[in-house]
Amino acid sequence: MIKKNVLLFIVLALCFLSCTKQNTEKHKVGFSQCISKDDYRKAMDYEMMVEASLHPELELTIFQANGDIEAQKSHIQFMINNDFDVIIISPAQSDPLVEIIETAFNKGIPIIIVDRKINTDKYTAFVGADNMEVGRNAGYFIASSSTNNANVLEIRGSGNAFPKMGRHLGFHEVVDNEPNIKVPYSFDVEDFERVSQILDSIHKTPIDYVYAFNDNIAYDAWKVAKEKGVEKRINFIGVDGLSGLDNGIQLVQKGILAATILYPTGGDEAIKIAMKILQDETVLKENILNTTVIDYRNAKIMEKQYERINKHQIDIEKQQNVIRELENTYSTQSNILKWLAGLLIISILLAAYSIFSQYKLNKKKRTLELQNKKITVQRNQIKSIAKEVKKSNEAKTNFFTGLSHEFKTPITLILSSVESMFENKAIKETKLSRDVALIYNNSKRLLRLINQLLDFRKIEDRKFILKASEVNLYEFSNHIFKDFEREAEKRNINFSLHANNKDLKIYLDRDLIDKVYFNLLSNAFKFTPNNGTISMNIVDNPEKDTVNIHFKDSGIGIPNKELNSVFKAFYQGSNNNQSSSGIGLFLSKEFVELHKGALNVHSKHGTEFIVTLHKGSDHLKSEEIIYEPDMVDDSLIRYTDDVDYHEGNFTETETKDNEEHYSILIIEDNLDLVTYLKGKLAADYLVYTSDGTDAIDKALEHIPDIIVCDVNLPEKSGFDICKTLKNDLRTSHIPTIILTAQSSKESYIQGLQSGADLYLTKPFSYAILLQSIKSLLYNREKLRYYYVNNIYRLDNSEDNFGPFEQNFISNINELINNNLDNSNFSVEQLADELNISRIQLYRKMKAISGISISDYIQNIRLEKAKVLLNETTLTISEVAYATGFSSPSYFSTSFKNKYSKTPKAYRSNK
Ligand code: FRU
Repeated sequence: MIKKNVLLFIVLALCFLSCTKQNTEKHKVGFSQCISKDDYRKAMDYEMMVEASLHPELELTIFQANGDIEAQKSHIQFMINNDFDVIIISPAQSDPLVEIIETAFNKGIPIIIVDRKINTDKYTAFVGADNMEVGRNAGYFIASSSTNNANVLEIRGSGNAFPKMGRHLGFHEVVDNEPNIKVPYSFDVEDFERVSQILDSIHKTPIDYVYAFNDNIAYDAWKVAKEKGVEKRINFIGVDGLSGLDNGIQLVQKGILAATILYPTGGDEAIKIAMKILQDETVLKENILNTTVIDYRNAKIMEKQYERINKHQIDIEKQQNVIRELENTYSTQSNILKWLAGLLIISILLAAYSIFSQYKLNKKKRTLELQNKKITVQRNQIKSIAKEVKKSNEAKTNFFTGLSHEFKTPITLILSSVESMFENKAIKETKLSRDVALIYNNSKRLLRLINQLLDFRKIEDRKFILKASEVNLYEFSNHIFKDFEREAEKRNINFSLHANNKDLKIYLDRDLIDKVYFNLLSNAFKFTPNNGTISMNIVDNPEKDTVNIHFKDSGIGIPNKELNSVFKAFYQGSNNNQSSSGIGLFLSKEFVELHKGALNVHSKHGTEFIVTLHKGSDHLKSEEIIYEPDMVDDSLIRYTDDVDYHEGNFTETETKDNEEHYSILIIEDNLDLVTYLKGKLAADYLVYTSDGTDAIDKALEHIPDIIVCDVNLPEKSGFDICKTLKNDLRTSHIPTIILTAQSSKESYIQGLQSGADLYLTKPFSYAILLQSIKSLLYNREKLRYYYVNNIYRLDNSEDNFGPFEQNFISNINELINNNLDNSNFSVEQLADELNISRIQLYRKMKAISGISISDYIQNIRLEKAKVLLNETTLTISEVAYATGFSSPSYFSTSFKNKYSKTPKAYRSNK
């Protein structure tokens, strides 16, 4: 992932580099031109552009004001606002721009003034010719070319700009000192129409020279003179000396002008100065350009020079174009080159990456190959192990299946023998019949389990072939229903069978569906408490080709998340503490599915199993259908026709209720076993029983001398019950025997942890159980005997009592000692202080010490009295009151009863 991102980044970076133009920052130079129309200004602009073109790092922008001063101001403001590096200004007048120029200058922007000066010194540089010099040159020209007197007509410029003044003053500086030169006419160009009038009177006042402010005015004056045919008599002199059509130099060459005074525009100079400023070079503030006279002698050379310059300029431009093209080509090529370089780098990176990937792939491949080899070896090993396991499993299952088959015969034989024993008069109606019934019922249970095991094997081997025959479903169901009725009556369970179509006949394998019914019903009975409800409901929907048989109970239900698992083989529900093979529901589902039917389960307020079977026989193959009369098959072993020995087939041994007998609480949910144990033990013990649901209540109610407790019970496990009893002061002293089918080490440890005194596993020998009960009671009795005779040692008996008993005795002793002299201190008060009932206190004390609590209190009082008689000089009455006896005579009687001596005799004998 990271590698991919790096690659992407490189590609993007290269792309970016190759696409970026060389972004060299250009210097922004702006030029504000005041007048735009005449050739002089155009020449100035052109010169600037040519010069600027030689400096590619400079970007020149020319703003044309066309004689509008306000426009020129806004151009300058624009350049200020847009951070121009240098501002060049050619002002028209000397005052209007002063303010804005000073603003720009004060901001630190270099200002170059071109041509006309302004009335401030806040500028960086001035470029232009000296106009006084221009005027002087014109004056010298006239002075040097005229021998006689000469009259000059002077036409000045307009406004109040510096050139107008300079050219006038310089001219007069010279001609006013020449006595033969007169200037009879001098006016501003605004009065140009005077020229015509003056020329009309040329005969009166001859005009030899016209000195005009610039070549254009001089040319205009010539045109007027030509009109009047006097042009040959006059020498026209102009200013500027521009090259090009009808400009100064050409006019001189044509003989129209006698001379023109060169007045350079300063355009190129201004750019050169701007460049110097930009390169941080020092520049002169005043940069005065040379001026010279151009007349017929040098005009041609000048023109030629200008032509050459122009030609050079054109060449330069051409070259510049070529350079630009080359630059473009270069830039294109350089871009292509960058792309290529980028692509090259990418290719190299990709190549490197692919080599790296290849390397890693090879490495991975090698590891995978290695793993593959290992896996193949392991797989082969597993295969061969699996083969062996399969073989041994098969051998084992075959062995167990064989064994199961082997079991079947003897059990069936036992059953038939037992059945005939029932008929035997020697047994009938005697105590023995109960044991025979027990043998019979349990043999049948064994047979059922073995049958289930064999069915399971058969299902696994897919060996079942359906033998379906047409059966009246209601009658079939009713027959099985009847088998469970007795059990329902016994447990006061509301058991019912309904059918909305009692005539419905369907095809089913009686043997298999019988097993399904039995399994579902015996489950329902197993998990439904006494006084609950179990219903069988056959619902025939005439519009469907199926019929549903609902088995609903009001039992403990199945947790929702386990509903899908109940049909798995060997599955044991989390809330099912009862012993079960775990294959009954699995087989039931398989049997129903053999009929192409379905077995579903819901659990809400109890559990509901729904068997869905097809009507008709289209779903069955022909070999699956057999013809059998529709009658109830009595040859099948009925599962619930247990001989009901607990209901009076025999006379139950009377249970003892004599206080002299030890009492036993049997906690067991297997009715057979309970009845068996009760029958056996009742002769010698007072027997209480509980099916586990009320075990704690029964134990607290009777405080028995010993408890025998099963582990798998409907609500709480035997371990939990034992733990609860052992942690309750009222019952903690009772010896407890755990009786269970779980023979694992873990459950043994669990049994010990729960506080049980003995752990016996089923099947157990009754003799061992009896002996265990006797031993535990004997030990308890021994302990009791010891303490009856050593009552004062009771609170030092950590070794023989549990922590509860120890605590109990300590509390009692403390309470009695605190109330030793209180004759009103009663057993009720003591029980209150200990937070138990009077009877519980009595039983607890009797159980652990063998004497009643009142005797115990009395004993302590008498023991203390003995000490007082021995060690003090208190009178007999004082001793009596000090030990809580209500009167000295009662004290004496009690003392004599216990120690066979009166207190008095005891004291004098000691
Ligand atoms: C052009 C012009 C030129 C002259 C210059 C003086 O506008 O009149 O002929 O030399 O300006 O500023």
